Amino acid sequence: MLELSHLVKTFHPGTVNERRAIRDLSLTVPEGQFVTVIGGNGAGKSTLLNLISGALFPDSGSVRLDGQDVTFLPEHRRARDIGRLFQDPLMGTAPNMTLEENLSLAYLRGSHRTFAPAPSRKNEAFFREKLRSLDLGLEDRLKTRVGLLSGGQRQALTLLMATVATPRLLLLDEHTAALDPATADKVLALTDRIVRENRITTLMITHNMASALALGDRTLMLEQGEILLDVSGEERASMTVDALLERFQHQSGAQLVNDRLLLSRG
Ligand SMILES: Nc1ncnc2c1ncn2[C@@H]1O[C@H](COP(=O)(O)OP(=O)(O)OP(=O)(O)O)[C@@H](O)[C@H]1O
Ligand SMILES: [Mg+2]
Repeated sequence: MLELSHLVKTFHPGTVNERRAIRDLSLTVPEGQFVTVIGGNGAGKSTLLNLISGALFPDSGSVRLDGQDVTFLPEHRRARDIGRLFQDPLMGTAPNMTLEENLSLAYLRGSHRTFAPAPSRKNEAFFREKLRSLDLGLEDRLKTRVGLLSGGQRQALTLLMATVATPRLLLLDEHTAALDPATADKVLALTDRIVRENRITTLMITHNMASALALGDRTLMLEQGEILLDVSGEERASMTVDALLERFQHQSGAQLVNDRLLLSRG
């Protein structure tokens, strides 16, 4: 379970460049819940994930993960419990190492989660099986350098690495935005499957409002560092993209400023 309590983050306070990125934000995400997050440019979505992952510390408020206060725990110490994917497929994997080496590292990093033994030759079969599940033909390329993979293959591999040992929390920041539409759909479907099968507590930022409603259990809309909308259950199940936009405009009194969001309403 993730518990955010009264988080505040202001960049460059007291200067002309002051940006109140997160304003008194509280949120509880129960174990296993899959939350999608949308919002305009600069709404504070990435900052929110940065506060949760430890890439940034808040000015005030707290972050608790499974009851433990991790607000000021360094990022590298949280990384063992938190899987994270970014927009850029080049992040998250080591290009000069093989698929097998990358997976071994990820497995070792996460092994304390499952008390699994260190990788051995047996793991080759294990990794091959995991890669086969991606359905991208990567199972026969264990000895290939990751730098030779396509963006989509690489992002799918990063997803696999982030979840090969089930993390307590998975943070996805527009992780399919840089992929072509067909590949993006594939990686999204994969995300959905992996998250559901392993019941991973997940926050996924997306600019695609249709996938925000289609995937997961709950959708948050952020605006100016605050949660403007929080829909789940039946209300969400029957919600259309147009209705979501309308609710946003009604609540914020503003036009949604996010070109990509509007372009991908369908
Ligand atoms: N490291 C930083 N230094 C200064 N200001 C920052 C920094 N990171 C974010 N900001 C500012 O904080 C606000 C929130 O930014 P953030 O990146 O969280 O938005 P976002 O919702 O992820 O937007 P996008 O959809 O464009 O990715 C913006 O005004 C941004 O300019
Ligand atoms: Mg962002």
